[in-house]
Amino acid sequence: MSGAEPVFFNPLEAGYIEDPWPHLAELRAHDPVHHLLTGQWGLFRYDDTFTLLRDPTLSVDDENLDMERLERAALLEDVDLDDRNRSILNIDPPDHTRLRRLVSKAFTPRTIEALRPMIQHMVDEMLEQMAVEGDTDVVERLAFPLPFDVISEMLGMPEADKNLIRDWSGAIVKMIDPVVSEAEVAAALDADEKMGAHLATVIEWKADNPGDDLLTALIDAEDDGDTMTARELRDQVSLLFIAGHETTVNLIGTGIRELLRHPDQLELVRGHGMPPTGIDELLRWVSPVQMTRRVATADLVFGGIDIPKGALVLASLASANRDPDFWGSTAETFDLTRANAGQHLSFGSGIHYCLGASLAKLEAEVAIESFVTRFGQVDIVGEPRWNGRINLRGLDELIVRTR
Ligand code: HEM
Repeated sequence: MSGAEPVFFNPLEAGYIEDPWPHLAELRAHDPVHHLLTGQWGLFRYDDTFTLLRDPTLSVDDENLDMERLERAALLEDVDLDDRNRSILNIDPPDHTRLRRLVSKAFTPRTIEALRPMIQHMVDEMLEQMAVEGDTDVVERLAFPLPFDVISEMLGMPEADKNLIRDWSGAIVKMIDPVVSEAEVAAALDADEKMGAHLATVIEWKADNPGDDLLTALIDAEDDGDTMTARELRDQVSLLFIAGHETTVNLIGTGIRELLRHPDQLELVRGHGMPPTGIDELLRWVSPVQMTRRVATADLVFGGIDIPKGALVLASLASANRDPDFWGSTAETFDLTRANAGQHLSFGSGIHYCLGASLAKLEAEVAIESFVTRFGQVDIVGEPRWNGRINLRGLDELIVRTR
């Protein structure tokens, strides 16, 4: 691509998932308010993304979407909009305010910090297993099971087939990619039905086996009748369960890889522990959720470009996190001591700001710091395997040799 040529956001381009950054930099520099060939609009600058996320007049509800504008409309013809997901990520105030208040009780900083000993214990056991293996997969042994086991424990989920749930969850989150195939839509709808049925059974089981856990608290809220309906309950549980592991796995997996690729930063953590700004810098650097979305409820103007009412607007959190207009000349430098790293947009901003932010940071801090200090020497073996996702970009496999 060059400045004079039109630029296109094409995440299907070979090599994009492994290294999206040059592509994003090109768009940010030459067409930062971009009309995608698939019908959505994309914002690639920090300031535009920040403004979009904090604008209370925008919506996250598909009901406000002008489907005619989207290429994927044809693939979703059979989907009943009345039956759409009503998790807090997909609804506007006042329902958003009411339900977020209920769910957020379990995510206060104090409640999360109290989980530290449990998380440390889980990590220590996982590292012990890795040490025995020698050549070991960071994703299989640590990055995936840790967030999955933590959110399962918080919710009080019964034992279940982890691999089956991992497959369903992977198929479901593919739908938040900007480009999806007919087969991916079909797989996502099928997985959604199976996950829905599984969660309905789990909720029934939990109602008969209450405990001191988040799921019991949510069921009690549902019992209040006018606070949460049964369908709303299932959608919140599904969001917490999926968001609870699909994102943090990418932070831990790609985060460890980035440290291994930057020996000066690795030595810093080995010698002095993770700097207070370290996990935020990792979040800025890898952007485990690469983009999010809003629906324009009125005509909008960004950077002098008109975006019509009903349009789906994608905000590239990944591009914002590397925008030199905001971060300065060191935007493309990985520096765990960056003073303002906390201003990254990896958790979004505004009313939908990630509810699990403190939990994700705690898990990543314990997992990464313990991994780095447990093994004096770690080498990457072969090439990592990417998960093939444009939005929830991360690794499916990272084999390392530990000593
Ligand atoms: C590194 C890990 C994570 C990243 C990068 C991340 C990222 C995000 C982002 C970008 C949003 C806002 C989307 C928007 O504004 O449209 C969000 C929302 C949310 N996240 Fe996370 N997340 C992470 C981990 C978690 C965890 C561990 C949980 C729960 C256990 C969680 C639960 C949620 C929930 C419930 C929302 C919806 C909030 C709302 O709509 O009000 N996330 N997350």
